Amino acid sequence: MAEDAPTPPARTPRDEDDDYAVSLPRLVVIRLSILVIEFVTRLGDLAVLALRPRLLGPYLGLWLREVLVSPYRLRRSFELIRLLQASGQRFNELMYGETPVHTALWLFRKAGLGPGGKLLDLGAGRGRTLLAARWLGAEATGIELLDFHVALAAKPLAKTGARLVAGDANCVVLPDATHVFLNWTALSPETRARLVTRLRACPPGTRVLTVTRPIQLESFVVLSRHHVLFTWGLEHVWLHEHQPHPDTKV
Ligand SMILES: C[S@@+](CC[C@H](N)C(=O)[O-])C[C@H]1O[C@@H](n2cnc3c(N)ncnc32)[C@H](O)[C@@H]1O
Repeated sequence: MAEDAPTPPARTPRDEDDDYAVSLPRLVVIRLSILVIEFVTRLGDLAVLALRPRLLGPYLGLWLREVLVSPYRLRRSFELIRLLQASGQRFNELMYGETPVHTALWLFRKAGLGPGGKLLDLGAGRGRTLLAARWLGAEATGIELLDFHVALAAKPLAKTGARLVAGDANCVVLPDATHVFLNWTALSPETRARLVTRLRACPPGTRVLTVTRPIQLESFVVLSRHHVLFTWGLEHVWLHEHQPHPDTKV
């Protein structure tokens, strides 16, 4: 390269965040499709919850809070930046999206969740998946990094018997679970790798569902792959079973 060739300006973390910028026409198409998906998924949720009327009130409470305080608009406050520094994550990793109750219900059934089972959602957001676990008669716990979500959602969820608690999934003591749900679409490879390290401590037979990407570790055997609807569109989900080699040290 010639000595005086212009060097591109160094990319700042802020520039990298702007990789998500889209043109106006594309933004309009995205917004319209999100509206259609919102309509379809809410209708699907209401249809399945009509079969469990005691879950309907808390679901409507969560929905109302979502309308009043959007989970999709996060402000870069000092508090948030400090939290991200502590968890070693970037702002983009907090990009929000939910699993509709009917999607979670279908997936959890495939995974064999039912009475006596314990679901753990790592990165639980406002806890929509927890309602699906309660629908199936299982225990339901969600760990969420942002207190902002927990403060809004924990109370209505508690009425169903589900628990949503604030914490970093990579640091807190994880409750034992028969099933783990990981909607890790936005997480960086480094954060995903740390989570997988934690999952290796799960007892043999634990079933783990991951969105967008499977777990690439021999001891997590893929049982099935599904293509299902989320609030942002269709996505693949992998169902794994933890089958560590008997000699494997955790
Ligand atoms: C895509 S949302 C999924 C919400 C929910 N699991 C669902 O599927 O409906 C991912 C959530 O993970 C949370 N999150 C990101 N990093 C986390 C961490 N280290 N510990 C706990 N939660 C985290 C984000 O704040 C966000 O609310």
